[in-house]
Amino acid sequence: MGYPLPKIAPSILSADFSDLARAIEEIEEAGADWIHLDIMDGHFVPNLTMGPKMVSDIRKRTRLPLDVHLMVSNPDELADSFIDAGADHVIFHVEACIHSHRLIQRIEARKVKAGISLVPSTSIESCSELLPFVDQVLVMSVNPGFGGQKMISQCVNKIRRLAELRKSSAYTYVINVDGGINEKTVVEVREAGADVIVSGSAFFSAKDKAAYTSLLRGEKRV
Ligand code: DX5
Ligand code: ZN
Repeated sequence: MGYPLPKIAPSILSADFSDLARAIEEIEEAGADWIHLDIMDGHFVPNLTMGPKMVSDIRKRTRLPLDVHLMVSNPDELADSFIDAGADHVIFHVEACIHSHRLIQRIEARKVKAGISLVPSTSIESCSELLPFVDQVLVMSVNPGFGGQKMISQCVNKIRRLAELRKSSAYTYVINVDGGINEKTVVEVREAGADVIVSGSAFFSAKDKAAYTSLLRGEKRV
């Protein structure tokens, strides 16, 4: 109550990769706001997903903003190719980047939103110097690499503190939460101040995806 409605960003990691066109239609028909694309390199995380070619093919099929989450060890080398492919937002892991400030500037110079992501064991304090410069902070609420995991509830506190810091310091980032979000866990992350809710397995296993999207947003109707 009193919170603005968060944006919903379904993650296609949980979709059928052999029928992504259908997954994109489902996301659009559900009235979701963004499409979240999980890029995994088999090195930063123990899983492999998609490269720029797949992002550029998805780009041709939708006008929804593409929220590209780079779970790779060398984001500074790869960010440009995902921007070329049509990413609207590029989020990279601070754990994988030494010159994060430089990478943020490079992404923004290409008129793309720049975000940082924090794995559960990374503190807000460790990236406090970056907070004035970023458009998004993505709080991982599971250890990255796989969909369908249980939310680590301590991460909710990180969202709350990021929201407080934003207010007290007049920062402008949006707060994304990613991992283990469903109709139950979404309640506390929404109340903590998350602006963007990423949902993979819960969204794609919902029968009525439009109703589920409204439920995740906390809308009255359904
Ligand atoms: C995990 C990914 C998430 C994942 C979320 O490494 O970053 O975006 O798709 O999936 P669920 O909602 O199933 O936890
Ligand atoms: Zn993600």
